[in-house]
Amino acid sequence: MNTVDVIAIDGPVASGKGSVSSGVAKKLGFHVLDSGSLYRLTAYSALTQKADLDDEAEITRIAQSLKPVFKDGKIFLNEEDVTDAIRHEEVGLAASRIAVHTAVRSSLFELQRNFAQAPGLVADGRDMGSVVFPEAVLKVFLTASAQSRAERRIKQLKEKGISSNIDDLVRQIKERDERDMNRSAAPLVPADGARILDSSDLTLDETISQVLEWYREIRP
Ligand code: CDP
Repeated sequence: MNTVDVIAIDGPVASGKGSVSSGVAKKLGFHVLDSGSLYRLTAYSALTQKADLDDEAEITRIAQSLKPVFKDGKIFLNEEDVTDAIRHEEVGLAASRIAVHTAVRSSLFELQRNFAQAPGLVADGRDMGSVVFPEAVLKVFLTASAQSRAERRIKQLKEKGISSNIDDLVRQIKERDERDMNRSAAPLVPADGARILDSSDLTLDETISQVLEWYREIRP
């Protein structure tokens, strides 16, 4: 059991989970877990090794041997800086394919739980509130319209110097959402007791403030 407060922020592709989580964590001085990065790292390794993404045993072996290093906002895999490489949408798509495997999810479980360190954790993903941190003191399900999510993702990728086509992106986002919501292992659904936050018409700061307000209601 955790003794530290965990705030779980789950939601679909490009709903703003990452930016909201780091904003909330910064205000509270908490650690952050970007659980999607672990699925992306597994997918990236699998793509590099030309592994079959549908081969559960093979992908599980890759997930188990993953030794990512998170340092100063960067992510290293075998000393290679993969921070930007794992953000490509093809890695996101591959991540959603390998994320359907139950054994892959189980092998990333402990790695994720280990992020719950004092003084607290903000964890973002798809199943933070439902599976990985069911004891989270605050569970938020962050949504936004498909249009605003596609626009946000284009902007994000552009900032990283990755060019993308809006039509392709909308298609990929839809494909990923559908797979994430319909898989049998830890599908994307609001966790029991999750508060739904639609950020379509909110700025990033307003969204962060809402999460902080809810947290303060729980920990005045
Ligand atoms: O940032 P974005 O919403 O594009 O995705 P992400 O959070 O980086 O996650 C990439 C993929 O990993 C998702 O589409 C999910 O299929 C999978 N994932 C998951 O299954 N469970 C999590 N807790 C986090 C991500």
